[in-house]
Amino acid sequence: MKRIGILTSGGDAPGMNACIRAAVRVALSSGIEIMGIRRGYMGLITNDILPLTRDEVSNIIHTGGSILESSRCPEFETDEGRQKAATTLRNQGIEGLILIGGDGTFRGGAKMAEKIPVGIIGVPGTIDNDVYGTDFTIGFDTAVNCAIQAIDRIRDTARTFERVFFVEVMGHHTGFIALHAGMAGGADSLVIPEDRVGIEDICSRLQEGHRLGKKSAIVVVTETENPGYSYQIAQEVTRITGFESRVCVLGHVQRGGNPTAADRVLGTVLGASAVQALADGKKGVMVGIVGGKQKYTPLEDTWEKEKELNPRLRQLVQLLW
Ligand code: F6P
Repeated sequence: MKRIGILTSGGDAPGMNACIRAAVRVALSSGIEIMGIRRGYMGLITNDILPLTRDEVSNIIHTGGSILESSRCPEFETDEGRQKAATTLRNQGIEGLILIGGDGTFRGGAKMAEKIPVGIIGVPGTIDNDVYGTDFTIGFDTAVNCAIQAIDRIRDTARTFERVFFVEVMGHHTGFIALHAGMAGGADSLVIPEDRVGIEDICSRLQEGHRLGKKSAIVVVTETENPGYSYQIAQEVTRITGFESRVCVLGHVQRGGNPTAADRVLGTVLGASAVQALADGKKGVMVGIVGGKQKYTPLEDTWEKEKELNPRLRQLVQLLW
């Protein structure tokens, strides 16, 4: 393999730059040229591609976002768009492609690969952690740490005013961020898509806490299609219980900032593994870490199979309040 490409697509996640840096340095030291594709699949459609050098990836290991930028690219969802992208790959002589993103990114890449014999390797990068085939995705740990910093701060004011706070986190229809941030932040209750809790359940838990002497409470809520859903819950809970409530929607603050050590290490390991996988002739797989060991997962499993929340953590959050 002489020339490979790398791109980041979908929501950016802290640690993506560490991943790009590792991939570039491992590729160059193995005599493989590596091209950076800008703005995800948009860069393949518009031929926005640059060779990456060692210097280009200096001083980025500690930064959030993606030096290659990212996009959600509706044109790539069409057959015509994917054909344009495949033509660019052919013209550029790119034989292998590293995709850093989530299952939607991998699905699009796999469809494009039906048009051109390019080796595709996926690297799980999303704050949501909702990718099958890896225990953790790049960016998740940083997002959770961001959320618990917010919860810690909110706890101070919640306690002082004897209020119930609803802290809304991201997660793209899954409760990974809520579960981990809720546990680490000592939340009283979670509202996650995986548990169909109703308003009554939330109210009775808060009322029970009140009976046990709790003067304030924190409920961590996973955002829905429309961020801000917690305002409705808070209003209803106050109406039913009489507890004073406030809402804090964390939003995109969770997507930025310096990656934690865990995300830098994960990004680095997976970036290096992705290049190695291409050099070894692997294709159509995602590199991940499961139980501390490197694992290759067929790309289609990432969108066909669902990753489950850790049942032990779910059980403990129920107990520890
Ligand atoms: O997938 C990452 C994520 O941050 C989700 O948690 C969130 O639902 C979505 O992206 C927001 O997307 P956008 O930045 O396009 O609004």
